Amino acid sequence: MENKTIQTQFTLYPSIAELSTEDLHLMKAAQKAILNAYAPYSNFQVGAALLLENGTIVTGNNQENAAYPSGMCAERVAIWNASSQFPGMVIKKIAITVKSKLKEVNKPVSPCGACRQTLLEYEVNQKAPIEVFFTGEVGVVIKANSLQDLLPFAFDQSFL
Ligand code: THU
Repeated sequence: MENKTIQTQFTLYPSIAELSTEDLHLMKAAQKAILNAYAPYSNFQVGAALLLENGTIVTGNNQENAAYPSGMCAERVAIWNASSQFPGMVIKKIAITVKSKLKEVNKPVSPCGACRQTLLEYEVNQKAPIEVFFTGEVGVVIKANSLQDLLPFAFDQSFL
């Protein structure tokens, strides 16, 4: 028997103002995407923006449903939007942010497990890491270097 440890590296920025010009631009696109979120049940509006290798930014936002499980997270709306418009195009980064009508979200909104799994599929296919930036309405920004870092022991096509 052997105990092992997995470590994850990430970068912490004190606020979005500390991001590079390119990353701030992407985060602002995610903030803008929040405006079209449809979140009447949770009042938790999420925006996501992807930067593709051709420089295009593709966005998404959460879309809820009266039958709650039929709703969808912003990250999956965004990546499926990207893949449906630009199939096979390498995705460099994704920025994720939030605005709640109930409270000021002051910690980074990390992508849920299902979104991590979905994003990982594209990272595996493109054989290049996707950087993930996430923040709250205010406060710090976290940058993970890849989906692999956010989803250790991921299930992927290599098992099939
Ligand atoms: N949500 C996202 O869009 N992305 C996340 O990473 C976490 C949760 C949405 C789903 C639902 O519409 C609302 O936030 C509350 O869970």
